[in-house]
Amino acid sequence: MKKPLIFLTGIILLAGLSSLKRGYKTPLYKDEHAPIKQRVEDLLKRMTLDEKMMQLSQYTFGLNDNPNNIEREKSTLDPRVGSLIYFGNDPVLRNEIQKRAIEETRLGIPILFGFDIIHGCKTLFPIPLATGCSFDTALARKASEIAARESYLSGINWTFSPMINIARDPRWGRISEGYGEDPYTTSMFAIASVKGYQGNKNIIDSLHIAATLKHYIAYGLSEGGRDYTYTDVSRQALWETYLPAFKAGVDAGAKTVMSSFNDISGTPATINKYLLTDVLKNDWGFKGFVVSDWDAIAQLMAQGVAKDSMACAQKALMAGTDMDMLDGIYERNLKELLKEHRVTMQRMDDAVRRILTVKFQLGLFDHPYTPVIPASQRYLQPYARTIASKLAAESMVLLKNKKNILPIPSSIKSIAVIGPMVKDSFDLMGAWRGRADVKEVSSIYTALQEEFNGKISLHYAKGCDFDSKDKSDFDSAIQAAKISDEVILFLGEKNGWSGENASRSNISLPKVQEDLIKAIKEKTGKPVILVLNNGRPLALANIEPDVNAILEAWQPGTLGASAIAGILSGRINPSGKLDVTFPLTTGQIPVFYDMRQSARPQSGIYQDLGTNDPMYWFGYGLTYTTYHFGKVKLSATSIKKKQQLIATVHVTNTGTRDGEETVLWYISHPEATISRPQKELKHFQKLGIKAGQTVTYKFVINPKAVLAYPNDKGEPILEAGDYYLMVGNQKLRFELRN
Ligand code: GLC
Repeated sequence: MKKPLIFLTGIILLAGLSSLKRGYKTPLYKDEHAPIKQRVEDLLKRMTLDEKMMQLSQYTFGLNDNPNNIEREKSTLDPRVGSLIYFGNDPVLRNEIQKRAIEETRLGIPILFGFDIIHGCKTLFPIPLATGCSFDTALARKASEIAARESYLSGINWTFSPMINIARDPRWGRISEGYGEDPYTTSMFAIASVKGYQGNKNIIDSLHIAATLKHYIAYGLSEGGRDYTYTDVSRQALWETYLPAFKAGVDAGAKTVMSSFNDISGTPATINKYLLTDVLKNDWGFKGFVVSDWDAIAQLMAQGVAKDSMACAQKALMAGTDMDMLDGIYERNLKELLKEHRVTMQRMDDAVRRILTVKFQLGLFDHPYTPVIPASQRYLQPYARTIASKLAAESMVLLKNKKNILPIPSSIKSIAVIGPMVKDSFDLMGAWRGRADVKEVSSIYTALQEEFNGKISLHYAKGCDFDSKDKSDFDSAIQAAKISDEVILFLGEKNGWSGENASRSNISLPKVQEDLIKAIKEKTGKPVILVLNNGRPLALANIEPDVNAILEAWQPGTLGASAIAGILSGRINPSGKLDVTFPLTTGQIPVFYDMRQSARPQSGIYQDLGTNDPMYWFGYGLTYTTYHFGKVKLSATSIKKKQQLIATVHVTNTGTRDGEETVLWYISHPEATISRPQKELKHFQKLGIKAGQTVTYKFVINPKAVLAYPNDKGEPILEAGDYYLMVGNQKLRFELRN
């Protein structure tokens, strides 16, 4: 009798245990097989108000990297915080912080670690303004993939990049961070960058990170090129110039958007409900989240639209800014605002939902920790160096090459290498250097030594500093020039002269640099090659006549010096074309290729210049070979709106060097309901062409995608009428019928 009873008791106990266990089954939000939408909703309903507010807050970690402060920060930070801007690149430290969030908080919500990986993490690529000149979006995507991998392995899961502000005022230092003046070019690089960072689909595979489309929006219109200022933006300009790249980025799947500092015609971006909610979230269906810029919510008081931090928080949240970067205004005010019904729980939940969704998509709930591999396997891998070198080379633009003085011929046995850039590695890196280390960046001098290794002797003189009155080194520069067959001047800007809060009222080279060029020319009569490292278009009118060649090398990053040396020696055939116009003088700003036609094209000319044309237009760039364009062929000269038009052109490399040529296809619509720019870039293609080879470039014109333009509500207008296709120096008319 006893045995069956014991047996039966055991069975009941076991059943009880398992049902007990079932009764405490893993919460749905922790079930990695459950759909993300359900996990988000399950988690959201479990969260307290405080936990929700913390998810909407972002602070920094490691800004002050003194070890004592790191330890204090690690122990004092609130592990419920939604995000940290991680100024370290140590995955172990990052994991220790993450462990606090996972194990010391009630719900174990992971922290989202972000950072400004703008043009590379440890492997530094050229500044984006240079990358745009490559017109090689496939290569740019590879660079972003490498940046994502290095960032991920550093513990960073989110980059505040790509910066896709259209910029037409080179006085504005942040022109260096974007892809130039053209909406279409910027859109193509936005897509390449987002796909590179995030991968093809969702991000739940390691080595990819969330991208940020920034700065939303029209920040590049800052008055006078001064940073952080008012921007007067018409709705028409918003829709035809400033929104397209963001729409392209959202359609490419970007997970986050950063609102910008600027006041947009009276409503600062941070509280611009029309742009943040009506357009971005409602019209475009953006499901990610919007993060403010640094302290931007608090800055609403300076901008005259909020009297205190309560008003700042209320306006920003209700307009659609989901996460508060840095100033803690959401954490300090939302509870009170909720109590006073000045914000809604619905809006707060929507913001939290968006942030949690991105964290789930990044896999942070299921894989919260960064795999720790040796630094030697994380960074600057051979493949990364190859891509960085190729992109640096393709981003450089040959602006002048009188009598084909470049590439340097074998007859040259000695070169004077002069200028503050010759032995300077740091200023090859540009602004926003990620986690890059200047020790990894070789100087131009080193690269030239390696390139010419003894075949050409180099006579070095600094000549001058970047910007000073000191000309005491001019003599040694002149001496070096006198004893050399040729002179190469390496001039330009320091890193800090472009990037954030780096506006300049005059975009000419500093006077001491211009004087050095003139002194060399006057005192030696030697041919002068000018190589520029700079973060913005420069006004070169004062010195252009004094030099025989100009290579715009921008700030080319870790492998940039060898790319410069390769182009000078002829090992590399330059293929870059400008993604931004170079004005003749600062006074010409703004001047850009897709301007409207003047009412009197032959009048309104600057009296002192005698022209309104810039020094170099968008799309300009020379090469060491020559290309012949055959006649452009159209599949028809008249099409209906629902038909396609196919344009082709054969391009022959008629020179002796292999090359890569970018064909830029423009559309002109000279008679429209709303005036159109004189021409607009609508397609580009870069192909390799071997010496003597002919290749065919093709442009498929789908009228709705290519010929329609937006009105001031963003509604597409597609009008029948005459259009022109412009490529090279050819201009072909075609008709669009209803
Ligand atoms: C800065 C910049 C923004 C950057 C952010 C975080 O002020 O405007 O581009 O991503 O703060 O560093």
